[in-house]
Amino acid sequence: MNFRDIPKVELHTHLEGSAPPAFIAGLAREKNIDISGIFDAQGGYAFRDFDHFLQVYEAACTTLQSPEDFRRLTLAVLEETAAHGVVYMETFVSPDFCGGGDVAAWRDYLAAMQDAADEAERTMGITLRGIVTGIRHFGPDQCKIAAACAAETKGDFITGFGMAGGEMVGRPGDYAYSFDMAREAGLQLTAHAGEWGGPSMVAETIRDLKVARIGHGIGAIDDPKLMAEIADKGIVLEVCPGSNVVLKAVSGWDAHPIAKLRDAGVPVTVSTDDPPFFHTTMTDEYDMLAKTFGWGADDFRALNKIALDAAFCDDETRARVA
Ligand code: HPA
Ligand code: ZN
Repeated sequence: MNFRDIPKVELHTHLEGSAPPAFIAGLAREKNIDISGIFDAQGGYAFRDFDHFLQVYEAACTTLQSPEDFRRLTLAVLEETAAHGVVYMETFVSPDFCGGGDVAAWRDYLAAMQDAADEAERTMGITLRGIVTGIRHFGPDQCKIAAACAAETKGDFITGFGMAGGEMVGRPGDYAYSFDMAREAGLQLTAHAGEWGGPSMVAETIRDLKVARIGHGIGAIDDPKLMAEIADKGIVLEVCPGSNVVLKAVSGWDAHPIAKLRDAGVPVTVSTDDPPFFHTTMTDEYDMLAKTFGWGADDFRALNKIALDAAFCDDETRARVA
């Protein structure tokens, strides 16, 4: 079956991590930045493991230096994503990579992204919302700066706050101040947890950060009581199987817990995370889920309903993209 044309809702992507390597290499050439070490012989991103992935990611980000770079990036990403049937997408954006936490600069970057999103909505029928993201391994103080940027710019485009980066740095509670600030500003919340950490990391994230969604969350599979709690509270997992396989958070597609989580009543959704890094697309994710677990059109329809219900947008937008 051809899954490309199924209308899809994708909740978990990183904007910079969705940059095609050729796009980043082009910017590097324009600006005379030497990042040749981050590419393999075929021009793809090259990394050994998760920590190295984060280093390569940050090196790629050094080429993104202006609102115009982010406007072009956003448009290129939406074009590629829309080509895989995605009608609604959320993406993580980081003040740390857009002006370093200066609110005025951050507003300029956001205006450029929003400009590209408006154009893509008109011409490609894809709707984008942004989730401001603190980067965990930059520490709790830097995360507060990201949360302040988020609180200042909550609106039609910025609807959520989240946290990505090195999951094993500190404990979720160390970042509670930032999540409290974002919640008080009316933002909806998600955080990466249980990509590398076990059930305790997922449980603390729910308890201390009071998130509606969890990025990855696959570590919950080792604790049936936690799975029941997640199911009961309706906390939605943004599962990115292809990312987990490439980064070796799981040993392979056959070993991925997404089907078991779903069968235990946990609301799961599917996303690509950083598609060019993980050599994936939404079509590829669906193809692999079909091949590995026998999922078909009805399963994907149910998955997309869960995703749309959990989307950080208003009901008018939800009804329009449904
Ligand atoms: N995990 C954590 N941080 C990230 C990721 C990821 O998969 N992608 C970009 N930042
Ligand atoms: Zn992610």
